[in-house]
Amino acid sequence: MGAWCWWKHGVVYQIYPRSFMDASGDGVGDLEGIRRRLGHLSWLGVDAIWLSPCFPSPMADFGYDVSDYCDIDPLFGSLEDFDRLLRDAHARGIRVILDWVPNHTSDRHPWFLESRGGRDAPRRSWYVWRDPRPDGGPPNNWVSVFGGSAWEWDEATGQYYLHSFLREQPDLDWRCPEVEAAMHDVLRFWLDRGVDGFRIDVVHRIAKDPELRDNPPAPGGGPGYGGQLHIHDENHPDVHALLRRIRKLIDAYPERMTVGEVYIMDPAEVARYYGRGDELHLAFNFSFLRSPFEAAAFRREVERFEALLPEGAWPDVVLSNHDVPRHASRYDHPELGEPRARLAAALLLTLRGTPFLYYGEEIGMRNQAIAEDRMQDPLARTLHPALCRDGERTPMPWTSGPGAGFTTGDPWLPVGEPPPGGPVDRQRRDPTSLLHLYRRLLALRRRWPCLHAGSYRTLEAPEGVFAYERRAGGQRAVVALNFLDVPAEVELPVGSIAEGLSTRPGCPDPPAGGHHRLDAAEGVVLVEATARGAPSAP
Ligand code: GLC
Repeated sequence: MGAWCWWKHGVVYQIYPRSFMDASGDGVGDLEGIRRRLGHLSWLGVDAIWLSPCFPSPMADFGYDVSDYCDIDPLFGSLEDFDRLLRDAHARGIRVILDWVPNHTSDRHPWFLESRGGRDAPRRSWYVWRDPRPDGGPPNNWVSVFGGSAWEWDEATGQYYLHSFLREQPDLDWRCPEVEAAMHDVLRFWLDRGVDGFRIDVVHRIAKDPELRDNPPAPGGGPGYGGQLHIHDENHPDVHALLRRIRKLIDAYPERMTVGEVYIMDPAEVARYYGRGDELHLAFNFSFLRSPFEAAAFRREVERFEALLPEGAWPDVVLSNHDVPRHASRYDHPELGEPRARLAAALLLTLRGTPFLYYGEEIGMRNQAIAEDRMQDPLARTLHPALCRDGERTPMPWTSGPGAGFTTGDPWLPVGEPPPGGPVDRQRRDPTSLLHLYRRLLALRRRWPCLHAGSYRTLEAPEGVFAYERRAGGQRAVVALNFLDVPAEVELPVGSIAEGLSTRPGCPDPPAGGHHRLDAAEGVVLVEATARGAPSAP
């Protein structure tokens, strides 16, 4: 079972800084706001926070276009605010993970400004500059993830530069040794300041085909991003050597971690990013983001990733983040929306792997409908309003007052409808709320090593029910989740029960083992009492 390891056994809470808490009153969340809400996070029981980018940025992609990697954008505060947040989070036992964006900078980053200054500019080779094709067109057929060609013409120097995302996000060339060295310095800057790890943005993109060959068409073809097989513009085998060097740097600091956004659809490829324990500590498993609300779908994805993971690698569980519609919306249902959100909480917090909890998920936040004229996300402009990500990035509703306790100003995105259980303050007063269920699950998971560190095995269950056990050091937990819209009868192979819970509101006692009737969209978690079954605090 091994010793407690925070990034394996703990729970990470993702904060989108613009939307968590605004202390300055300008309508945009900030670091001081996060600091003031640390009490919520301690009370909830999470082990770490991951902050989406808060570095200086022109905000073309809301911080994923960084113009200085070693500072804080004034919108969010200052380096001193960051240090204060870090210190107070640490004092509460909460680690802090930053979002490192190595694939591209902002087009206003001084490196890029220098690079575009001329063909002989000292930093020309830091970015991917190429001559046009003989007909004047872009150097190859690569398309931007955000629509259109991935190449932008630079009139002044007569070359194109590569941008995998917006034209305001030029790709760095990681084949240039100075780029690697400079980005390693960025990591050291924050590690020396005391941060506990990094979420690495689109890490599979940092190595591309050195010859920049055309991507072949995907079966079915088509003009856009989906019309190509992305075999040359991402996931080049050289990425693994780059990752091993990053890992070496990180491992020189005790207890730090990396989690990579490897946005590749093939989970076998994602699993390769763990290397032999010498690349990423965790690679996001995004398969649940595409899973329908069906027991068989989740079971299939869990078993598949478990089977693909290299020896010793640790999985992770993700249901929502700032790029996809919130799962409470994806799984919503006219009568069973709340029960489903409650079941999802049990799933997230009892599977084997590090759970990533997206802010607001603990109160059942839904996506908000944003009117087209208020849309902020560049995707709405470059691709299609239907792809706008603002809906999952709206301000956290803390109270039902004006500004929802998020801001005293005009919020940057509408707060919208509160979730069915109400804002945070109301749910805190209601012991049957979703918020309290998250807290109970987090506490249960922390208390029982079988839940935070144990092995995983699928249990046979009737169709529509996903059941599994977690075992560690003589402890065992059994989880049964009914994904159906109707009740299901299950046999819970559990002896005497030490502790447990049902996701049903107002169901304080652990359900008994043996024959059990699960309500529609109900889940149960039972921890078996055994000789060596004493709970242990980390
Ligand atoms: C990642 C981020 C996303 C961003 C993109 C470009 O996918 O999660 O929000 O737009 O990278 O940096």
